[in-house]
Amino acid sequence: MNALKEAGPEGVPIPRRIAFINEKGGSGKTTLVSNVAVYLAWRRGRRVLAIDMDPQGQLGKVLGLEVRRPRRSAIELLVDSVLGEGPRPESLDAPPEPGLPIVATRFPNLDAIVSNKSLALFPSWTGAGAEESDPTGRLARSLTETPGALDYDFVLIDAPPSFGPLTLNILRAANELVVPVPLTYLAMDGCAELMRSVDMVRQRYGNEDLRLTMVIPTFYRRTRLANEILEKLKQRFPKEIAHTVVGFHVRIDEAQSRGQSVFEHAPSDRGAKVMAALAEELEARGRPEFGAAP
Ligand SMILES: Nc1ncnc2c1ncn2[C@@H]1O[C@H](COP(=O)(O)OP(=O)(O)OP(=O)(O)O)[C@@H](O)[C@H]1O
Ligand SMILES: [Mg+2]
Repeated sequence: MNALKEAGPEGVPIPRRIAFINEKGGSGKTTLVSNVAVYLAWRRGRRVLAIDMDPQGQLGKVLGLEVRRPRRSAIELLVDSVLGEGPRPESLDAPPEPGLPIVATRFPNLDAIVSNKSLALFPSWTGAGAEESDPTGRLARSLTETPGALDYDFVLIDAPPSFGPLTLNILRAANELVVPVPLTYLAMDGCAELMRSVDMVRQRYGNEDLRLTMVIPTFYRRTRLANEILEKLKQRFPKEIAHTVVGFHVRIDEAQSRGQSVFEHAPSDRGAKVMAALAEELEARGRPEFGAAP
């Protein structure tokens, strides 16, 4: 068994399901998910599934995938047809097809589930709502019960910059959270809110295992304000704070807009080294009891 994987109830290994989450828009979530996913799959040989749960559809675009009219997309994770049962919304053109709505990427070991605006219509479009008072457990169910969903070492989930039914689905489906925090004025407020939501999900939905794995400072600049916020983050999250701080790297931004990872666009740039270091830190922060470094 892979040392990084946990054992499920019947001893079946389960992937690390890690959500990159922060309600604050533009905090670096999508950039981190795409580059960390590429690094873990391409450079480290891990089997990775990257899931876009943001209706903006950015993750697929930065991975160079077609997202406007994909054959299958993330909305299907929220309808029962993924499990091979239940009705499927007529608005999805493709014929019913059970199993995860996966798209292959050009990288070995990296699969993706892309999204687009259709995801914003959840829950109304998916048959959830009237007959189901709480449709927030659907992603968790898809990722634990769909054939093929357990075949990965890492499932990385890109969250939208808002709090609502999609985010609740993500918090119930993940077992780990990574929170990128831009070192700007209001950064800490968002963190406190997120921690309250996490407590609520633990208590109300019994997702006891959900833990904060890493807080990643992003958009660091050498200013007094950024250094003050960084200090506060270190005090508030002494164990979770990443050793690697992400600065502003033009090459990372360029790579995103070209639908490439920074490892293709500028492999020797400092930005590529920073993303690689973060991916390795995340890899090393697997639960110690399962053999990974603490
Ligand atoms: N380290 C970095 N250096 C330079 N530019 C960056 C860096 N990280 C992200 N960016 C750029 O900043 C913008 C916002 O980043 P990103 O899309 O990853 O944030 P996000 O949290 O996913 O945003 P949203 O909440 O809207 O989904 C993008 O244009 C991206 O290319
Ligand atoms: Mg994003």
